[in-house]
Amino acid sequence: MNTNPVLQVNHLTRYYDIKQGMFQPDKILRAVNGVSFSLVAGKTLAVVGESGCGKSTLGRVLTLIEPPTDGSFKIDGHECDFEDTKLVRRQRRSIQMIFQDPYGSLNPRKKIGDILEEPLVINTDMSAHERQTAAYDMMDKVGLRREHYSRYPHMFSGGQRQRIAIARSLMLRPKIIIADEPVSALDVSIQAQVLNLLMDLQDEFGLAYLFISHDLSVVRHIADDIMVMYLGRPVEQGESQVIFAKPLHPYTRILLASTPRVNPDERGDPIILSGELPSPIDPPPGCAFHRRCPFMQERCKSDIPEPRQVQNRVVACHFAGEV
Ligand SMILES: Nc1ncnc2c1ncn2[C@@H]1O[C@H](COP(=O)(O)OP(=O)(O)OP(=O)(O)O)[C@@H](O)[C@H]1O
Ligand code: SF4
Ligand SMILES: [Mg+2]
Repeated sequence: MNTNPVLQVNHLTRYYDIKQGMFQPDKILRAVNGVSFSLVAGKTLAVVGESGCGKSTLGRVLTLIEPPTDGSFKIDGHECDFEDTKLVRRQRRSIQMIFQDPYGSLNPRKKIGDILEEPLVINTDMSAHERQTAAYDMMDKVGLRREHYSRYPHMFSGGQRQRIAIARSLMLRPKIIIADEPVSALDVSIQAQVLNLLMDLQDEFGLAYLFISHDLSVVRHIADDIMVMYLGRPVEQGESQVIFAKPLHPYTRILLASTPRVNPDERGDPIILSGELPSPIDPPPGCAFHRRCPFMQERCKSDIPEPRQVQNRVVACHFAGEV
């Protein structure tokens, strides 16, 4: 397996200007604030955190839908440059996105065959016959039957629609898939099937996944690495096993403690997440988590904790490993 990263992200930030009315200066919303990681073929990095912490924004920047405000990233070793439209078009083929709501992302007026072949029509000079063969092949791989080719999305269940969306995302043979909550809208029984399919396809095509989820019990099944985000910043990142075995950031500990465990021995001390998620427009000074953190100390109110290496992972907490 090639161990060169297919995706390298370096201090990526994405800010939005928020208008405040006539005589007020605009405010800045820091949706993604200094994200760095690298991802190799065949591996899965899970991005977790509460609603609004910047997961989907990160996905939109990495799939070249919107430019970063600062920082940079490389796809397959090539620096992404939003000014270079030819390069952007080429790179968009290597990095595809799957969304939570497979119905919303499939055109209801198109047949499955046309949905799957559309990326080939736009990006390749394959003949109609070659495109149909490619669509049939992909339908086989995702577990759709060939007679589904001429049907419309509304004729399928949620799980099957997600299979269609997955098939479409793979038609151009991308190297990286950004999956934004791909199973959250599905019944639990169907979730496992779709997750297994994603893992089989990863093996077959050597895909790298950025798997966005707020559900740690799902993440646990699929992730090699984890990045926990809070208000746009990564607070703990490292190998999934290492973090699940012993989370060090108080926020990760709270998220994990509220996830149902199969093995009761693994249950940590229950810690309750108190207080509301602050706004990313006016984040608290110092550690953005300090108003909710049960281990907060005086310096947390003023000093922003920088990410640092502690016990085989990177953590942004002044007291990681001590409390
Ligand atoms: N186009 C935009 N303009 C202004 N603010 C935005 C825009 N897109 C996202 N935001 C804000 O950026 C922050 C991060 O949003 P984002 O959708 O990335 O979060 P998320 O982690 O995906 O949340 P969820 O789990 O609910 O999907 C939020 O505060 C959101 O309101
Ligand atoms: S830096 Fe302080 S407030 Fe922030 S997570 Fe660590 S202990 Fe809690
Ligand atoms: Mg989202």
